[in-house]
Amino acid sequence: MDSNEFRRYGHEIVEWIARYFENVEQYPVKSGVRPGEIKNALPELPPSGSESFDLFMKDFDEVIMPGITHWQSPNFFAYFPANSSPPSVLAEMLTAALGAQCMLWETSPAGTELEERMMEWLRSMMGIPPEFEGVIQDSASSSTLAALITAREKVTRYRSNREGLSDTGRMRIYVSGQTHSSVEKGAGIAGFGRDNLVRVEVRSDFSMDPEALERAIERDIASGYIPCCAIATLGTTGVTAIDPLRAMGEICRKHGIWLHVDAAIGGTALLLPEMRWMADGIEYADSLVFNPHKWMFTNFDCSVYFVRDAASLIRSFEILPEYLKTRTRGEVNDYRDWGIPLGRRFRALKLWAVIRSYGVEGLQSLIREHLRLAKMLAGLIEADRDFRLMAPVTLNTLCFRYCPAGMGDEDANTLNEKINHALNDTGKIYLTHTKVDGRYVLRMVTAQTGVTERHVRQAWDLIRETASALSSQNGAVDVD
Ligand SMILES: Cc1ncc(COP(=O)(O)O)c(C=O)c1O
Repeated sequence: MDSNEFRRYGHEIVEWIARYFENVEQYPVKSGVRPGEIKNALPELPPSGSESFDLFMKDFDEVIMPGITHWQSPNFFAYFPANSSPPSVLAEMLTAALGAQCMLWETSPAGTELEERMMEWLRSMMGIPPEFEGVIQDSASSSTLAALITAREKVTRYRSNREGLSDTGRMRIYVSGQTHSSVEKGAGIAGFGRDNLVRVEVRSDFSMDPEALERAIERDIASGYIPCCAIATLGTTGVTAIDPLRAMGEICRKHGIWLHVDAAIGGTALLLPEMRWMADGIEYADSLVFNPHKWMFTNFDCSVYFVRDAASLIRSFEILPEYLKTRTRGEVNDYRDWGIPLGRRFRALKLWAVIRSYGVEGLQSLIREHLRLAKMLAGLIEADRDFRLMAPVTLNTLCFRYCPAGMGDEDANTLNEKINHALNDTGKIYLTHTKVDGRYVLRMVTAQTGVTERHVRQAWDLIRETASALSSQNGAVDVD
């Protein structure tokens, strides 16, 4: 492709993206293709010669787009969002054009220094104490793995990296039943062993019970285990419970345990001073992860990892083959030592574009609106006698179910699962489910970049209509 062609297709693609953002609401939110449909539409072998980019774009529209689930649709209420935004996309185009690999300061000084400055901006935007230093990772899973490995190294006095884990004793990680599965995955990868994950009981609001945490630690010490790390989540994946940071922090401090805060979703809410209560006790934390690529309008991937003692992180990850030695080593930040991969994308650029384009106040007002929409929907659910909220609404997520008076639990489980599938099959909205105390519940998140009150009200009307249609049509559902 020569530069004239690049220019022509570049303009066309920007035009395509602008139209997509304008019309994203028109697409079925959840792709309706069957397994294998897309792959079967693709040639088995690559072309031997050059093909025109027109053909590529035609296939993109005709073959790929039907297989896309539209995460940028304001009617996307599933999972947690993976928000994009126009400034983020534009900056991502520049990142792709530069193709810079920001592993060392020298391999692109601007990559490192912009990342440092963005971490400082975010720290002050979120009220994180100044002793924390930040780095951008690809995902919360990687950030949490970095925390687990650093905690492990600290406890073993940096011996396990060198000597392995054979005679370190059994180190324990404390989580709740609501903690994200990335911790269990990390426990396996980091050599703790998944069986050394201790699931501490939760309170009625699904947050970790600090007294139960203390009891679990004391039990473990008495049995010869080595308490190593505890995870406090600000916004658990299922029901967005907020773990009690201060109470957990005091216990961790007393026992010399690394406290990692998983604020993958909740971190964005810390931009709001009125939500900082969630981070009360942050001074006890050793590390915190939050994902601008979820709720802060920065397209995937961009996960921010803050660590109190950056030296311990670097000591755990540093490795120095000859070809990575530079004259500036020691004088600058070489972010390659701050995480798992060596190679690093220039992710700070899109963060810079997003923060500058919205401004802190612009970001705050969008997030506030998402929280307001969640409360508004909670009010509508509470006012409907056939629906029930199944967990407190702390952030942007609602767990509820259709359960008219007299309907038994099992029937409600079956019916709500049907409602969920029927709703998603309409293509009009997309939401997912979770289980709360063993009960199947609908789970809806009001945090997509473009979501407005109209979308939430339309979704609610559709949910009510679908539920009552399925309930009356389905004689199989017995009412006790
Ligand atoms: C609370 C929490 N932590 C961690 C993760 C993992 O995030 P990532 O996909 O960035 O690894 C998720 C994903 O939804 C999450 O909800």
